Amino acid sequence: MKTKNEKKKYYKILEELDRYRKKDFTFSSGHILGSMCTQPHAIAKMGYIKFLESNLGDPELFPGTKEIESKLITFISDLLHAPKSAMGQIISGGTEGNITAMWLAKRLTEKKEIIIPKSAHFSFQKIASLMDMKLIPVPLNENYCMDIAKAKDKICNNTAAVLGIAGSTELGTIDPIPELSEICFDENIFFHVDAAFGGFVIPFLNELCYDVPDFDFKLKGVSTISIDAHKMGYSAIPLGILVSRNEKWLEKISVESHCISSKSQAGILGTRSGGPVAAAYAVTRYLGRNGYKKVVENCMNTTKYVEERVTEMGLPLVIKPTINVLGVKIKKLPEVVSNLSKKGWKVNKIDHLSCIRIVIMPHITKKIIDEFIPILKKTCKELGEI
Ligand SMILES: Cc1ncc(COP(=O)(O)O)c(C=O)c1O
Repeated sequence: MKTKNEKKKYYKILEELDRYRKKDFTFSSGHILGSMCTQPHAIAKMGYIKFLESNLGDPELFPGTKEIESKLITFISDLLHAPKSAMGQIISGGTEGNITAMWLAKRLTEKKEIIIPKSAHFSFQKIASLMDMKLIPVPLNENYCMDIAKAKDKICNNTAAVLGIAGSTELGTIDPIPELSEICFDENIFFHVDAAFGGFVIPFLNELCYDVPDFDFKLKGVSTISIDAHKMGYSAIPLGILVSRNEKWLEKISVESHCISSKSQAGILGTRSGGPVAAAYAVTRYLGRNGYKKVVENCMNTTKYVEERVTEMGLPLVIKPTINVLGVKIKKLPEVVSNLSKKGWKVNKIDHLSCIRIVIMPHITKKIIDEFIPILKKTCKELGEI
């Protein structure tokens, strides 16, 4: 900044930004109870800023960032028990992960039908529209998971892929991935696992002796897995990873890339910031597997606490939580949600299940829950819900 006027302008703009930011809800307040994102770990913020200008779309210019990217992919691939033949690529998150996986399935099979559980994330609607593919929805069983027999019935000559969810968006349920993997392996069907949310939870639940099914590359029928560091990976938006069982598959979604330092480029994006990659790498290095295990343990303890507190209030759950996501049944759903919002608390509303979704992310502590429960109770009483 050269002149006094430039300095003045600079600070005025920063003040303006602060005014807009003040309108936002913040994770640090603890009042965002329904999001699958969280306040990034402190080290993520530092890492992000350091790599603000680096572009992974032009890797020769940023070999240091590229190295970090490889190390992050190795951490995730190991977490998911990926075989040596596997290949990981950074994506912006679960939506891009699902799109890229289905693009791959379409190019490998030249087929168009995707068999999805009814609980699939809405990104599959985008996939159908973008890539002219057809969604074949499968009903859920009594546990809100994909019905295996009904899924098997839908497999036909047009099937490009089957989707299984490891940590669903609405209730955090885990589809019967081992059984689906077996079926897909036997029938030679591409099987994508959407672990955008559960990918950073389920491996640690296993270590904490919770009863959860296998969901990763240990299962021979699993073709691709997407997992998000900006959800339970405790890092900054946007950062996901798609891991494919076979590195050679990526040729199917690669194009020659002129004018930049790499000969070819796979995936959807071109220019990609190194910021979120450095942030996620820093968090994985700082927390390591033991750190993540502790994060998950805390989230699960708080989930249990919420379960007890809401049920003693007389509000039933849709199902017993599998992971750190709760669906709390509410009859007067729009009224309760908007009333909570007016009081400064944000929960998500799931109309077709008539429930609110509470996601116990790392920023939600028991102390926050102790503040929230009396407000929920008061709101429900005022509206005649309980
Ligand atoms: C299971 C699942 N898949 C995919 C997505 C999409 O992720 P994103 O919004 O980061 O693209 C979500 C988002 O909540 C999700 O829960």
